[in-house]
Amino acid sequence: MTTFWSWYITLLTVGSLVALFWLLFATRKGERKNITDQTMGHSFDGIEEYDNPLPRWWFLLFLGTLVFAGAYLALYPGLGNWKGLLPGYEDGWTQVAQWEREVSKADELYGPIFAKYAAMPLEQVAQEEQALKMGGRLFATYCSICHGSDAKGAVGFPNLTDQHWRWGGDAESIKTSILHGRIGTMPAWGEALGDAGVKNVAAYVRHGLAKLPLPEGDQSDLAQGEQLFASTCVACHGADGSGLALLGAPDLTHPGGWIYGSSLAQLQQTIRYGRNGQMPAQEQYLGNDKVHLLAAYVLSLSRNQGNSEANAE
Ligand code: HEC
Ligand code: HEC
Repeated sequence: MTTFWSWYITLLTVGSLVALFWLLFATRKGERKNITDQTMGHSFDGIEEYDNPLPRWWFLLFLGTLVFAGAYLALYPGLGNWKGLLPGYEDGWTQVAQWEREVSKADELYGPIFAKYAAMPLEQVAQEEQALKMGGRLFATYCSICHGSDAKGAVGFPNLTDQHWRWGGDAESIKTSILHGRIGTMPAWGEALGDAGVKNVAAYVRHGLAKLPLPEGDQSDLAQGEQLFASTCVACHGADGSGLALLGAPDLTHPGGWIYGSSLAQLQQTIRYGRNGQMPAQEQYLGNDKVHLLAAYVLSLSRNQGNSEANAE
């Protein structure tokens, strides 16, 4: 800011405060004792105004705001180029500077704890109560918006507490998923397969692979569905439909791990138009140490559910 504008703002602000101070005293009419029922002589819609001194509390409150304004303008940079006297902010207080100070304080405090866990293998961190508490808090802040506060997922977002993994459920795969993100690309098959093809292959996925019942009187040609699956889908989902973690292609024999629904209509939708689930990469955003704790937390969630498949479907 140029010197001119700096003085312009300073004089205007300080001048206003002084003027208000003067006004307060100039119009003061002594103590409340001398209350009269004399009015100001005007009337609005029959409402009249008494000509009495200001209540004491009001007077003091006004004085208080003036004192506050003076102290505030001395401490914080409000007057042109004045940087303020607030200790620790020699370059003037800003929201960003305050935030950076808080972050660096927190880093000093928690940095060593994060570093300690970052140096430990994930499997071991997943046994540490304090680490899991910290991981749980990070999860609530950064992950629950998509995966749910109980980590059980929602339509389009995988459940992280079960035994079904699209990209692998071992410690390193989980960490990679979080650190670098994942993009699942299920192509759209509507044009290639035609309407009947989509319906038949959807019925085959639901009944032939996932062993779920078809609606009564369903006319789908399961044999053609199986053929289409063998010629079109096995490259990614595997010959037996059990999926391929390398591509994030889910296991189609266990509908408990599906995220886009298992009804015929939902399956047809998936096959006809494709799907594109995206897990955002956290490396740049949270850094390795926090992701390490998150991976341990996610690992512990799926462990705690027991290793049985029983709760899956
Ligand atoms: C190029 C590899 C590829 C091919 C080929 C492919 N898929 Fe997929 N499929 C995927 C991926 C990756 C996903 C996960 C998409 C996501 O997470 O958003 C997926 C998801 C699905 C899902 C959804 C599962 C869920 O979680 O709800 C179904 C159903 C499915 N595929 C069926 C098929 C069928 C049937 C075919 C053959 C017509 C097929 N896919 C061909 C890669 C493929
Ligand atoms: C914007 C929504 C979103 C946020 C935020 C998010 N995720 Fe995800 N996450 C997804 C989606 C969608 C997938 C599935 C990607 C796919 O289709 O393959 C996924 C997949 C995953 C997977 C792999 C699951 C598997 O089956 O292999 C893990 C692990 C994971 N997320 C953990 C986390 C953690 C930990 C956080 C918090 C740092 C987080 N996610 C934040 C959307 C999100």
